[in-house]
Formats: sequence, C-alpha cells, structure tokens
Amino acid sequence: QSVRNLARSGVEAPAGIYDVQRLLDQMRLIKDDDEIAAMSRAGEISAAAHCRAMRMSRPGLREYQLEAELLHEFRYNGAQAPAYGSIVATGANACVLHYQASDAELKDGDLVLIDAGCEFNSYAADITRTFPANGKFTGPQKTLYEIVLAAQTAALAATRPGRHFMDGHDAAVRVLTQGMLDTGLLDANKAGNVDDAIAAGVYRQFYMHRTGHWLGMDVHDVGDYRDAAPGAAGTERAWRTLEPGMVVTVEPGIYVRPAADVPEQFWNIGIRIEDDALVTPDGCRILSNAVPNTVAEIEALMRHA
Ligand code: GLY
Ligand code: MN
Ligand code: MN
Repeated sequence: QSVRNLARSGVEAPAGIYDVQRLLDQMRLIKDDDEIAAMSRAGEISAAAHCRAMRMSRPGLREYQLEAELLHEFRYNGAQAPAYGSIVATGANACVLHYQASDAELKDGDLVLIDAGCEFNSYAADITRTFPANGKFTGPQKTLYEIVLAAQTAALAATRPGRHFMDGHDAAVRVLTQGMLDTGLLDANKAGNVDDAIAAGVYRQFYMHRTGHWLGMDVHDVGDYRDAAPGAAGTERAWRTLEPGMVVTVEPGIYVRPAADVPEQFWNIGIRIEDDALVTPDGCRILSNAVPNTVAEIEALMRHA
C-alpha cells in the first residue's frame, strides 16, 4: 500500500506477490562448496565432542557432566552453539526418544546414548553414538549394537544419486527386522518371516522412527521429501530422488522396553547410530566419521582414555 500511494509520482506498485520460500528451500537442499565446508567442520567438531565424552565416561558420572564435556569441545573449537538440546541418556533413558541430558547416574553395565551436534557458521551436525558407560559392551548389548550398525551400513549403501529418500529407511528396516527375528525380540512363530514382519509393521515395537532427514542450516532442514512429478494415477508422488549436494542423516536404532514376551536380557537397551551423509556424484561421503562406530574401535578408544 505504501508503494501504491506513490503512484502519482510515477512509481508502479507490483501487481503480484510471489512466495519465494519453495525456491529458497530448494537452494538450501543442494549445498554449494562453502556450505559443504561449513558442514564438514561442524561434523569434525561434533565428532571430537563425542570422542571426548567417550573418553571421559565412567560409572558414577551424571548425564549432565557428559553434556558439559560436549559443550566444552564445541565451543573450544569455535562452534557458536549446540545445534539442538543434547541428548545424553543412560540405561533405560535411551528408550525415551526426545530425552535430554538430565541428572541420572551412569551405572556400571549400562549403555550411554549421546545424540549431539554443534552449529558451526550457521550449519548443523547431528550425530548419535551409543557406548558402554564402563568401556566394555555386554554380550546382549553387542548383539543389538551390531544389528543397528549393519542396518546403518545398508542404509548408507542406498544413499546415492538416483536412489529415493526412503530407500535408506527401507534397507535399514529390513536389516533391523531380520535381526529382531534372529534374536527373538520378535517371535518368528507369530511374526512369520522378514517380509511378513515388515508388511505387518511389527518391527515398530522396537524401531518407531524414520531413518533420516535433511540436514543443513536447521537440524531438521527444509526441502521437499517428495519429487515434484505427480505419481501414477491413484498413487502418491515418489519419495525425493537423491542428488549430489544433498545432506541426509542416517540414524537407525533399536529400543527395547520391558515386556513379558521380550527376552529379558535385552530389556531397557536403547541404541542409535547416527551419521551425516553428503550425497556425492558416485555415492555419499560421511561428514561425521571422525568418531568410531564399531564395537572394537569404541572399546579401544575408551580403554586408552
Ligand atoms: N537430534 C535430532 C534428530 O536426530 O533427529
Ligand atoms: Mn540426532
Ligand atoms: Mn537426526
């Protein structure tokens, strides 16, 4: 209206208003070289913070004390802030998805799940690692950990140009579900084979979230999750086709709440492994891999702390 009021002096007001949000979202979804450099640094600093927390971990510490180690490493390395409230969840707390670091004590024999990342020059990292408070996985913890790690490997293999956003999730669900059947988390006599268990969705008792999301200026970043082209008659649009320059998190997990029909050795174990993958012309590059993720590497890092 202010511009229209200038009409008598020869100023012409716009005839339409166009919402540029979708254009900006698309620009944010495909990262350029400067953005990739900032995200790589955010990944490095966040990985260093996870390593620091692993080295400092011991039974008797409180969750907030490990959070303090993360915050120290972020800021010491020049990150401006945490990208989101750090999750430090020990024991059964790891089965609470949006739990934030509180005052629970790390217990000998329990796992610690840390989901934390910094923001560096406006770009976020988002990393999760799960490790034993005392530095040594128990048998049941190791069994489930290796299923989650295999699920992540399968999802990362599907994170490449031409594949669809949900392919990684589907690959992870298949590995997780097979693992649930193999370990007796799911009763094969009731759930059937892996295809039956996936079709019926029974894996959701132990894996109730998606395997990833766009990452960038926001932790859960903007951008369409479906392709623009309409689907065939009666179907939804296809999940977004991955392109070089996109950054996606890959974060499978298993969370076992106590239940009468679930083997007791797995009760209260919560495990997630989360990395940040930049889609490249021939696959993906992990921006967060400066923190170990195998049982042997994690135990070695904690042993030498
Ligand atoms: N830290 C939030 C997420 O992993 O999505
Ligand atoms: Mn996370
Ligand atoms: Mn995430």
